[in-house]
Amino acid sequence: MCGIVGYIGPKQCIPVILEGLRRLEYRGYDSAGIAVIDGGQLRVQKRAGKVADLAQLVERDGGSASSTVGMGHTRWATHGEPNDANAHPHTDCSGTIAVIHNGIIENYRSIKTKLIRDGHRFKSETDTEVLAHLIEQTYRRAGDLFTAVRIALRDVEGTYGLVVLSSREPDNMIAARMGSPLIVGVGEGEHLVAADAAAIVEYTRHVAYLEDGEIAEISAGGFRTTTIEDVTVDKEVHELTFDLAQIERGGYDHFMLKEIHEQPETIRNAIRGRLLVESGDVKLGGLSGVSEKIIHARRVILLGCGTSWHAGLVGEYMLEQIARIPTEVEYASEFRYRNPIVTSQDVVFAISQSGETADTLAALRLAKSKGATALGIVNVVGSTIARETEAGVYIHAGPEIGVASTKAFTSQLTVLALVTLFLARAKGMSQKDGAVLAKEMQSLPDKAARVLDHADELRSIAEQYKDARNFLYLGRGANFPVALEGALKLKEISYIHAEGYPAAEMKHGPIALIDEHMPVVFVVPKDAIYEKVASNIQEVRARKGRIIAVANEDDEEIAKMVDHVIRVPHTFGFFGPILNIIPLQLLSYWMAVSRGTNVDQPRNLAKSVTVE
Ligand code: G6P
Repeated sequence: MCGIVGYIGPKQCIPVILEGLRRLEYRGYDSAGIAVIDGGQLRVQKRAGKVADLAQLVERDGGSASSTVGMGHTRWATHGEPNDANAHPHTDCSGTIAVIHNGIIENYRSIKTKLIRDGHRFKSETDTEVLAHLIEQTYRRAGDLFTAVRIALRDVEGTYGLVVLSSREPDNMIAARMGSPLIVGVGEGEHLVAADAAAIVEYTRHVAYLEDGEIAEISAGGFRTTTIEDVTVDKEVHELTFDLAQIERGGYDHFMLKEIHEQPETIRNAIRGRLLVESGDVKLGGLSGVSEKIIHARRVILLGCGTSWHAGLVGEYMLEQIARIPTEVEYASEFRYRNPIVTSQDVVFAISQSGETADTLAALRLAKSKGATALGIVNVVGSTIARETEAGVYIHAGPEIGVASTKAFTSQLTVLALVTLFLARAKGMSQKDGAVLAKEMQSLPDKAARVLDHADELRSIAEQYKDARNFLYLGRGANFPVALEGALKLKEISYIHAEGYPAAEMKHGPIALIDEHMPVVFVVPKDAIYEKVASNIQEVRARKGRIIAVANEDDEEIAKMVDHVIRVPHTFGFFGPILNIIPLQLLSYWMAVSRGTNVDQPRNLAKSVTVE
């Protein structure tokens, strides 16, 4: 949610900032802007639209090319529609202080009323603009920008990752964090600041993560950090674990397609070094210290949002069926506000690709405050959730840029399967049974590659259904969450209304929707309930629904019952979702392409939702 990048050093800053914004555009893309110090003056350029539109504006206007200090922002609107005036940066009355911000200032109305009373003039409808004026006001007392921002933030309630630039102090910029991620990039004679490492990895691999309540003064030569209460903080500098190639499209038309095709490799990466096939064991360094706690837990609670919540639903099937551990899955956004009964006997896993989702983080903190053991299943190394959990398992999917999550989902499922086997063995599953599961798990990357061999078939199916207005996705058991996730993918990027249901629930409502205009996607592997799902297929057929089935390679009957069959290799039931979702990702992708929507940056969505 909202991209932030700042640069201070010897280079011309505009290309660095624009490139950084392009890399962060997945975080928000309704408007963009930059502020630079040019000949001692603050210069702001901003507009509604994409970073490419901003780049055109900057090029057309010319000037500022020699500037070496500046910052940029790409917005996901919260307060005020996405127009030029509401785009960031926002400035104070004197036009000498500029602010870019990710998050929500919850008490902005009362601050704004007071500032207007004091004579400040506002130019936008945003919550962010109050920060610029508030800092203008505190600057008079404080005398320096760092102190002015620090004091101003004491009056602010809400969440922020923000950067402040002022022509009054052209040799530094101020960054502060409360609830929205910010990192400082440490280079040779140059420093950067960003909402995500993707914006700066081209220039430095050394970063410091700001924590909530911290504020940093950043110059070309270094940075210093204190808390908002003015307590000095020594920041550790970490090394980034990914490189530039991983955040580029690598010949694919879209990041989403690249990420779908990366799955054999990313599933392999999730397993690498963790699975001991012969002995049927799993090595999870992150969980070794807490395995006893999990085994003896009253229950495991899996928390997440969006696709990560769907991963949790599959995890529930795995943990209950195989490890026999009572498990609940909760929308983090609901959990946090319903005063849940959580005790020190509960173990909570926060599942999050970004590790920054505001609701997941808040739910995790709540569970921690009630004494639960707080663990994470996270992709982004060093993210807030990863840092705030006691222990956890990284999914190692590498940077995911497409807004619709694909490879992170299958990696989350793979890690949940590893956690399940790890706990099942610790609870007494025999070596023989463990080895059978481990062997099958090891075959999943190759089986995922086999699913991708059918990628072109999905393209032609999508072409035939691109004008459909509704879709129904049905599955049972661990494939019910696959149906939900398939429907979510379609909604997110093609804007076609889609619903996921447990197949057996169809008769309790959705069946009323079925006619010749309703495509129905069935996830129907050859398992113990195959015949039941086959009956549901017949019910749809009898009502002239069009059927696309995801079925096993060795299923000889299915083709007679449905309009289209997508073949996936056979695997054990609870591993099935890892393979079965792949055709549904591809179906959504090709539907979106044939409808001409923006696949990687679907309207109204953002990759990392750091506001409530
Ligand atoms: C947003 C993204 C989804 C993602 C969800 C949770 O809605 O668009 O793709 O599943 O947030 O994100 P997380 O980073 O916590 O997995």
